[in-house]
Amino acid sequence: MIEIAIDGTAASGKGTLGKKLSDKYSFPYLDTGMLYRKVAHELIKNNKVNTTGLEKTSCHYAMILNLKELKNKNLRTEDVSKLASKIATFQNLRKILNNKQKEFNNSNKKKFGGCILDGRDIGTTILPNADFKFFITASLEVRAKRRLLEKNISFLHENDEKCMLQTFMNNMKERDRLDSNRKISPLVPAKDAYVIDTTSINSEELLSQVVDIIERKK
Ligand code: C5P
Repeated sequence: MIEIAIDGTAASGKGTLGKKLSDKYSFPYLDTGMLYRKVAHELIKNNKVNTTGLEKTSCHYAMILNLKELKNKNLRTEDVSKLASKIATFQNLRKILNNKQKEFNNSNKKKFGGCILDGRDIGTTILPNADFKFFITASLEVRAKRRLLEKNISFLHENDEKCMLQTFMNNMKERDRLDSNRKISPLVPAKDAYVIDTTSINSEELLSQVVDIIERKK
């Protein structure tokens, strides 16, 4: 049974890598950021963001979260991204979501012979004994450009595009700061992770590097 842990910064290419590896090896894949996003989205939808007891309310939504209900386009908005990083600092929330991630891994690994998870603390906390750990990074500018391209927006003026790119860069920088500096499960490469910078490579090149590593050691 093979466990593959992928961690890294936002828009570094880790999600695309997870999906491509899942297609190649027919192992189930979980984008664990979606769990934090789902809780953040529920908080926004139910007007609970500025209420007292945010951690407790987050835990409530985490407990009733169904992993089969993570395919909502609204989970990708900038507001949800920002709030997801904020609530990801809550220890009790992380405990609940960690258990869901571990359950997903345990049941699918047995059934399919392997499992792939991506996030921020997979190699360090969720799957510390994973067979393969990858930590994916890229420059801030390249990552922000990728996010902007994904949104597929047509701009009337070049300046509008520049302005939005700058906003994406600022938001990502702030999220990186929160994720890397929090006390519990910060975003850091596991000691035994392969660190890959995707600033100047595309998703196919990344896949090929990762598959080489897996095939050499399998
Ligand atoms: O990966 P994504 O950008 O969708 O994750 C949203 C947020 O969820 C991250 O910025 C991070 O704060 C949090 N997260 C986390 N641990 C994970 C996955 C995501 O703290 N394993």
